[in-house]
Formats: sequence, C-alpha cells, structure tokens
Amino acid sequence: MSNAPTFEPIDATLGAVVTNVDLNQVDDGTWGHIHAAFLKYGVLVFPGQHLDDDAQQAFAYRFGDRMEGRASGRITNQRKDGTLATKQDEAFRLQRGNEGWHIDSTYMPLAAKAGMLSALKVPPAGGQTEFADMRAAWDALDAAKQKQLEGLSAYHSLYHSQRKIGFVHNTDQRYGFHTQGAPLRPMTKRHPETGRMAIYAGRHAYEIPGMEAEESERFIDDLMAWACQPPRIYSHQWQVGDLAVWDNRCIMHRAALYDTSHPRVLRSSRVSGDPATELAPTFADPLADDFEPETGAQAAG
Ligand SMILES: [Fe+2]
Repeated sequence: MSNAPTFEPIDATLGAVVTNVDLNQVDDGTWGHIHAAFLKYGVLVFPGQHLDDDAQQAFAYRFGDRMEGRASGRITNQRKDGTLATKQDEAFRLQRGNEGWHIDSTYMPLAAKAGMLSALKVPPAGGQTEFADMRAAWDALDAAKQKQLEGLSAYHSLYHSQRKIGFVHNTDQRYGFHTQGAPLRPMTKRHPETGRMAIYAGRHAYEIPGMEAEESERFIDDLMAWACQPPRIYSHQWQVGDLAVWDNRCIMHRAALYDTSHPRVLRSSRVSGDPATELAPTFADPLADDFEPETGAQAAG
C-alpha cells in the first residue's frame, strides 16, 4: 500500500503535482514521501482528491498542529444563505486582501507553518491561487542586498494591510483584529528544517525600524514586486476536488482576480508554526484600539 506517489515538478523554481496517491489513505511510508517533497518543492498540488472535511483536516494535521483560532474554514464569496457577498461583507473585504502577496498569519504573534486549500466551487475564469518562491528569490539576490536584508525587520499588521487597500476594520478580537500588538519579524528566514534562506515579508509587513514609513513601504513593495516574478511563481488553476498545500515559512501566495458574481468556495486548513521558530515579539499597533503588552511582548524572537 505504500507505493511512492508520483511527483511531477512544475516548470518553475517551486511546486510539484502529485498523483498516484489517495489522500484518504496516507500510511507512514506514503507520508514520508509527501513530507520530503513538501520540503523540497514548497508547494504540492494533488488534483482530483475530493476530500471531505474530516479527511482534509486529518491530512492537514499530519503537517503540524491546528492553528489556534484559524484551524479550518471556508474561503468563500457566498454568504451562509447562499447569496453572493459584496463589499459590505467583512469576509469579502478580507478576500480582496488575499489578492495581495502574503504569508499567512504573520500578523499574529505565532505565524503559520503551512496552509492547505481545496476547491469546492470554482468560477468559470480567474480565481487561481498563485504561489511565489521566496527561497529562490533569496538565492537570486546579490550579496550586498542579502546583507542589507539580513539586518532588517518589519512590523506586521492585518489592520495595516487592509487599510492600505481601503478597508478599515474594528478591533473586535476576530482573527487578526486583536489587541496583542504588531509582531516584529526579520525580513529573512532560515528554514527550520531545510536550512535554506528565504525572503520573509508580504503585504502585512509595514514598517522597517530605521526607515521612514514611506521609504519602508516603497522598499517592501519593490522587493515583493521583484521577488514574485517568473521563474519563481506558479499559478494554480483550480478544478473542483483539487487540493494544494504550501510551506508558509518560505512560500508566499495570493488569490487571482475573478468575477465575483460567480461563487468561489475553497476549504482552508491552517497549520500552526513552531513557537521556537515562528513566534515573534509584539509591539503596540497604532491601528488597533488597544494593546495588552502582557499577551505578546515577552515572546521570544
Ligand atoms: Fe492566505
């Protein structure tokens, strides 16, 4: 039963398409192959799996622990009654945000280790999930730029990234809109399992200590625009039943635009980072209503 799955590398610096495997039945031997490929390719796409909720959660949590507060859910432009969401809906505004390159949960004290999506409803065009390889981006930097980045950190805030695209959110303790402060994260990350270096930023990063606000915004925007280019990107065109998992420690992602008069429903699972390597110290977030330093300020970097 533990035949090795087939891994077909994508024509980019990241990603492989995995076939010859049933994710309902992943024994330890199969898991070993999948985990090794996850570390090597950064993104794995499993076409046509059609997992149910329980099977997806079971597979997701082989990668690590559930993400507190955001373990699983639907990324959807449909309201509970089936009608389509608009700008007035909070979830819709967050999905507009997902269209910018990002790393999941960097605005929480503990960032995510891995993310998983599967497609339940797909619009007729667009709505791809796109991935960008920050390991290859790091490798492509010249030595001087690498040295500069190694000395830099940035604050991360979901209030900030949403404000930047015109949406103001209240502090109400929903996921991301918290009073635990803005994590300060280095702009580089050495992968805790592979040792590979990666650029670590994304749309939630907003202020680099030592730079003026405008300068750091331009610096981050320019870095992301340069990094997220071929051959370092892969755009996955969803078919219902596909599942994708990515290493959130070195891969950024975003959603591609689509016509929101059609439903798009993805099932999401998020795997918690390791406090030893994904926990960041937090500082007052000027866009949050309040700040309770005791909840995050003691966290180890
Ligand atoms: Fe995301």
